[in-house]
Amino acid sequence: MYKTETINIKTDFETGIEKAVALIKAGEVVAFPTETVYGLGANAFSEEAVRKIFKAKGRPADNPLIVHVADIAQAETLGEISDKARMLMEAFWPGPFTAVVRKKAGIPDVVTAGLDTIGLRMPKNPGILEVIKRSGFPIAAPSANISGSPSPTEAFHVETDMAGRIPLILDGGHTEYGLESTVCDLTSDTPLILRPGAVTAEDIKELAGMVEISASVLQPLNENETAASPGMKYTHYAPNAQVFVVKGPKESTVAQIRKMYEKDESGGGKPIVFCFASDSVYFKDMNVLTQGKDVTEVARSLFKNLREADAMACTTVYFQAVPETGIGLAVMNRIIRAAGFKLILVK
Ligand code: TXA
Ligand code: MG
Repeated sequence: MYKTETINIKTDFETGIEKAVALIKAGEVVAFPTETVYGLGANAFSEEAVRKIFKAKGRPADNPLIVHVADIAQAETLGEISDKARMLMEAFWPGPFTAVVRKKAGIPDVVTAGLDTIGLRMPKNPGILEVIKRSGFPIAAPSANISGSPSPTEAFHVETDMAGRIPLILDGGHTEYGLESTVCDLTSDTPLILRPGAVTAEDIKELAGMVEISASVLQPLNENETAASPGMKYTHYAPNAQVFVVKGPKESTVAQIRKMYEKDESGGGKPIVFCFASDSVYFKDMNVLTQGKDVTEVARSLFKNLREADAMACTTVYFQAVPETGIGLAVMNRIIRAAGFKLILVK
């Protein structure tokens, strides 16, 4: 058991960074904000330190970690960077873009779950960049939640999941995007999106001229299929409440949600509706969490709202589907997993 300390790096940057660097150098695990979600980081070169991440999260060992670097030069020491990969890194780094490339020797197998590829990302948050630079190590880091629960977008989410399991949390306020980075396989000619994020399929296509989206982004894997991105095979982002995604024309989704909501309520449940602020008029007399005015705001508030639904002891969440374009694809990828693929299509 650790006594977990939280340091606000907006007000106490130096203190926080110094402590984080000392702990990382000592082989410990530290939680920190990035522009996507909070991460749980350790020295990527140390097998022992990385094992502590898996232990703190309760993460299955066959799910590889992303390695965070300070620049493209450091990425080159860890993976084979093709011209196309470099072009995308130059365009999207620092930022929510993880490049999966062939791995070079050096990073222990525990980080990459024995794969011959490695996921590399240069994050935008100045705190973590400073920790990488000052410690001299690339930082292996998954999202800082207990495996299976929604990713943390605020420091108190990390405290909820990690108190006693790690020594330090750096608090940088609410993260910018609220969803994890785009994971893009660059080992063949056409970039393949394994997990959508704020760097969109459209963004990648514009630069690379082509892009593919893995079928597993919106569909469950068949039993005998192997996951290109092992993380996609696990139940994910799931709150205690049961989540239903309702998709179709607005009037029909409103009617469907109303019907299911009323049934839940009369059965003693506590349902809640997640919808755009402008649609809350349709659910006036009901329990509602508004998600913002556009899809970017929905992305930013999604994980926070899922945690909030649990805090309110809701039994079911009804989520109005968003269009699967731009960052909407990332929103649908996460919510559909939170729902265990319970998609209700109405006409
Ligand atoms: O925004 C993010 O990416 C955050 C912050 C902390 O950087 N990190 C994050 O890590 O979301 P994690 O471990 O929760 O998700 C990493 C995803 C998993 O789905 C994993 O399977 C995939 O990336 N991944 C990592 N390395 C891979 C590889 N070599 N090949 C295929 N998929 C990989
Ligand atoms: Mg995660």
